[in-house]
Amino acid sequence: MKEILLKTATTESVIRCGEGVFAEYAPRLADEQLFIVTDSNVFAYYRYRLWETFGEFVPIYIIPAGERSKNIRYLTAILKEMLKSGMKRNCTVVAFGGGVVGDIAGLAASLYMRGVKLVQVPTTLLAQVDSSVGGKTAIDFEGVKNAIGAFYQPREVIADPAFFETLTEREVRCGWGEIIKTSALNGEIYDLLVKNTDKFADKDFLSGIIAMCIEHKARVVEADEKETTGLRKTLNLGHTTGHALELYYRKKSHGEYVLIGMYYELYIAMKKGVCDKNYAASLIGLIKKIVNKIPSYPDIAEACKLAAYDKKNSDSRISVIVPAQIGRTEEIKLGMDEYVSLVKECSETLRRAYGI
Ligand SMILES: NC(=O)c1ccc[n+]([C@@H]2O[C@H](COP(=O)([O-])OP(=O)(O)OC[C@H]3O[C@@H](n4cnc5c(N)ncnc54)[C@H](O)[C@@H]3O)[C@@H](O)[C@H]2O)c1
Repeated sequence: MKEILLKTATTESVIRCGEGVFAEYAPRLADEQLFIVTDSNVFAYYRYRLWETFGEFVPIYIIPAGERSKNIRYLTAILKEMLKSGMKRNCTVVAFGGGVVGDIAGLAASLYMRGVKLVQVPTTLLAQVDSSVGGKTAIDFEGVKNAIGAFYQPREVIADPAFFETLTEREVRCGWGEIIKTSALNGEIYDLLVKNTDKFADKDFLSGIIAMCIEHKARVVEADEKETTGLRKTLNLGHTTGHALELYYRKKSHGEYVLIGMYYELYIAMKKGVCDKNYAASLIGLIKKIVNKIPSYPDIAEACKLAAYDKKNSDSRISVIVPAQIGRTEEIKLGMDEYVSLVKECSETLRRAYGI
């Protein structure tokens, strides 16, 4: 078990991660007035675990599984149910699920009676290495992802890899996308991954990597909680192109698009002379452990225009965070035409190489 502290100006979060931490630390919470938020899939798998841990009468709100539930209707429904269940100012909201549950339950906790205690129990790999840490909460609104939200740090995160037993392959790949992204930000994680590519499926190895990714994110969030200095932006590596492709094609998981985005952006970094060939090749090796064939897209120019909406852009140029050297990134700003033309060039190169 690893315990990581995340201190910001307003809160101190304790993050506990490792096999068995749920059994060890969650039952303690049963003494508090609890309100559990989960989703339909997670509830189907873990209802008995929840009842056993928190008691059969604990109030639980279950949203339908999937991103489409991260909306104002379910946010209101959760808040209504909290009122109806008599939740007091000192109650604790437990977000038990993946990033969708974490984001909406976190926002509900930040709003209810001007903010009540929040505990995140992330049950997906993505939520453990990324979304449960750092205090970003949100819902999608009017078709805009994460349009309404708040920075609201959980008091506690309980990240137990035992929940991965029931995860689909796709969700596991999704989480690995964020892990490999983090390796481009942190030299120690990079070295460990490069030296142990045969251990990606090993539980103990994964547990150690999760703790390192959480530690990395915690230090970044401590230094730049609200994305004011630019450091937190680095966590968005691969996301400019990855997110545009995800919005346009919607076929693969978020993490896979992050890796595909990272590949295309490595091409940009090499063309711009920011990243040397050997380091890029080594990162591509890691990417391909998860996404075997990087796709080319005939209409990628259209897809990439969506990068104009990326929140990292501060003017009309497209901001891309790219790996520069081991453990160091750079921000490249490109005009839309140049950005689209480089991405198209990369796609063409892929098409010629693989015929896909
Ligand atoms: N707040 C942040 O900093 C942050 C960072 C990254 C992503 N996010 C958000 O996170 C969300 C994506 O998170 P996600 O990938 O965890 O998606 P998710 O919450 O939709 O979970 C993915 C799927 O896995 C199922 N699931 C969850 N735990 C399971 C388990 N243990 N066993 C079996 N099935 C399980 C869910 O029901 C769902 O069908 C997005 O809304 C994204 O915007 C937030």
